[in-house]
Amino acid sequence: MSKTLHIKTFGCQMNVYDSKKIEDMLGALGYTSTPELTADVVLLNTCHIREKAEDKLFSDLGRFHLLKKERQNNGQDMVIVVAGCSAQALGAHILKRAPYVDMVVGPQTYYHLPQMLAMLQRRKDEQVEGENKPFKGVLETGFPKISKFDQLPQTSLTGPVSAFLSIQEGCDKFCTYCVVPYTRGAEYSRDVESIIQEARILLEKGVKEITLLGQNVNAYHGKNANGHVVGLSFLLQRLAELPDLKRLRYTTSHPRDMTDDLIQAHGQIDILMPFLHLPVQSGSDKILAHMNRQHTTEFYLEKINALKNARPEIAFSSDFIVGYPGETQEDFQKTCDLVEKVQFAQAYSFMYSPRPGTPAAIQDQIPGEVKAERLQILQALLRQHQLAFNRSMEGKVLPILLEKKGQRPGQILGRSPFMQSVYLSQGALGQEINVQITSGFLNSLKGEVVDHV
Ligand code: 5AD
Ligand code: SF4
Repeated sequence: MSKTLHIKTFGCQMNVYDSKKIEDMLGALGYTSTPELTADVVLLNTCHIREKAEDKLFSDLGRFHLLKKERQNNGQDMVIVVAGCSAQALGAHILKRAPYVDMVVGPQTYYHLPQMLAMLQRRKDEQVEGENKPFKGVLETGFPKISKFDQLPQTSLTGPVSAFLSIQEGCDKFCTYCVVPYTRGAEYSRDVESIIQEARILLEKGVKEITLLGQNVNAYHGKNANGHVVGLSFLLQRLAELPDLKRLRYTTSHPRDMTDDLIQAHGQIDILMPFLHLPVQSGSDKILAHMNRQHTTEFYLEKINALKNARPEIAFSSDFIVGYPGETQEDFQKTCDLVEKVQFAQAYSFMYSPRPGTPAAIQDQIPGEVKAERLQILQALLRQHQLAFNRSMEGKVLPILLEKKGQRPGQILGRSPFMQSVYLSQGALGQEINVQITSGFLNSLKGEVVDHV
């Protein structure tokens, strides 16, 4: 009988991609994925970006511990694995606080999982033989020299229509609030040819849209076939030449790495979608400097304008942090002013969350109520602009890519070039169809099919 694997993924798209790779890798060893919470192996692919994510991990682990005990009472075992960024950051602390966890594996070493599972089995067997040694979980959180991308199976089919492809990992920017440079390590870019090869495999399996992933994706600097280091614009051009690829996106970017050639690529590559996630974090130059963001608001607005010149219909999304140490009411107002200027189509906003080991965590903190109030004000403004953007689609005809089945029977979820959701009841998955938009809501659009493209 095949063994079962349950993966729970937290956090960003990078983790979604990694979880899929883990599924493929363990699938090759005979593990079948299951949505059931009790399984032979339960793997939590964790996020460490904010404190809440960490709290959530330990409360989930408590729940899985109960399920594990239940299974053990029935003579079965359940291997609990903690993977991802909290695994990297907390390491042995997880095994100490939750001793029923069997394995802790960081994002750079999960390709060792098959050996780790074998090692675990050996240790468990030894324990059963009655030597009475205390059982100790397996820990693997190094940053190996060898790239994980060369170790992973290439069998992945992330989604039937829209897939992620990880091209870059890690970050050298060291924003003062952020754990990523510590959990994901130094910036690393894959070679162009290995990315093209993975894209070809995805396309063969029917994928129509590829989203290139990286913590700092536009800092991409991989080697091409001649061994020359090239940037993201080169890679995008190469990918755009692949037949059958209908849509190309990339995320997440840093304003500093938005180079002229990359901006121009937005005007030159039709299948590069006119929607860009470009985090700004704050509208106050003082706070941006304290955050070590290496850009000002003026610099950011220049990039936005240059992108609009290259691709007039382009829309933007962003990330914001409110309540960073030292943020005054005036600084916060400047963030709202920037939001008014850019009119983002969509955005994510967070209260600053001190992360142990990062420079901002030891500075004087803003009270929680102040952060919460600012967040509420900012989110109301962002929602207003998101709704206005969606309403501005009314009367337009947009190409909608049919991505996956909706919740209701017969319903299909499609996406506009700007990532807006449109629910339809006709067409086949993978098709792009023209839809006349009749209403724009906060989180979706409604429309009527005009014709099939
Ligand atoms: N507190 C709050 N938000 C954070 N982010 C990163 N670190 C923190 C933190 N310590 C946000 C940033 C980033 C997004 C992925 O998460 O806005 O762009
Ligand atoms: Fe974190 Fe800044 Fe790197 Fe983004 S650019 S991953 S916010 S350190």
